[in-house]
Amino acid sequence: MNKEFNVAIAGATGAVGIEMIQTLERRNFPVKNLRLLASARSVGKKLSYKGVEITVEELTHDSFKGVDIALFSAGGDISKEYAKSVVDAGAVMIDNSSAFRMDDSVPLVIPEVNPEDIKLHQGIIANPNCTTIIMLVAVNPLHKAKKLKRLVAATYQATSGAGAKGMDELLVQTRQALDEKPIEPKFFAHRIAFNLIPHIDAFNANGYTKEELKMVNESRKMLHCPELKISCTCVRVPILRAHSEALNMEFAEDVSVEEVRAILRNAPGVTLVDDIANKSYPMPLDATDQGNVLVGRIRQDISRDDRKGIDMFISGDQILKGAALNAVQIAELI
Ligand code: A2P
Repeated sequence: MNKEFNVAIAGATGAVGIEMIQTLERRNFPVKNLRLLASARSVGKKLSYKGVEITVEELTHDSFKGVDIALFSAGGDISKEYAKSVVDAGAVMIDNSSAFRMDDSVPLVIPEVNPEDIKLHQGIIANPNCTTIIMLVAVNPLHKAKKLKRLVAATYQATSGAGAKGMDELLVQTRQALDEKPIEPKFFAHRIAFNLIPHIDAFNANGYTKEELKMVNESRKMLHCPELKISCTCVRVPILRAHSEALNMEFAEDVSVEEVRAILRNAPGVTLVDDIANKSYPMPLDATDQGNVLVGRIRQDISRDDRKGIDMFISGDQILKGAALNAVQIAELI
């Protein structure tokens, strides 16, 4: 008989939590019992799983008795507060926050990139930063074939990266702007409707944001390349839920556009969308609700005298592959 698992979702009412419920259902994960946990504000709310209404319970330190797998997406402070209770209850925590990602004893895993790292877990497995997941699903197959030396990224990140509140803020402000009403930014540092904000997470002393440094440090950890050269500029854009990224890559070996296409055509988690004659390229609306990362606009970097540089553009659903789907895929590996 196939084993079934008792699963808990902490942060079940959030944008990622809701998608985790749907992803467990869609992928037919062997769930024996599903516990939905959130703050006291949501107690009694009902969410549907496989046609059955499940009542949301308050997250407490006693929530994990009998639980095998606990998916966390309620922010880093909550993850830190409850990690010990999860592990002491004998459950495995799959944590979507940044709380434990750079901890040496915690594997940071993208199933298409470094599934073998999961074996080293001691009760906690970290789900990487959404922008980093989407980037490495596309970049890792090229790195394996041609050895990545340097990467420069500019991102176009959806408001869903800031949770359900971020998406609401875009919708509310867009209506206010169209109605010529005053706009008061609440969640983002500035107005996001009809604007861009080159500031995601706090600034570091070197002028980079924490989000930009997550892409650097998490990529080095998962690719097992501590010396890899990466620089990023992360930008919030008025998009609901898919992130896009412009990537410039330098490889150790010569590489052609045709080789890149051939590698990515067969890469797990990647859909090649690269037919400029037919105006076909990755766009966030097309990536929305897709499990795969869309890759296109593949070009030889004309700023170089050699054939070691490639530019490309990618889009991936931030809530799905950037968070909920990757977490459920980790649960499947367990
Ligand atoms: P709640 O809906 O009860 O506030 P998002 O990132 O989309 O805003 O979602 C955040 C998730 O984390 C929600 O499910 C939210 O529950 C949950 N959450 C936030 N604060 C707490 C808390 N103190 N205890 C438990 N869950 C929390």
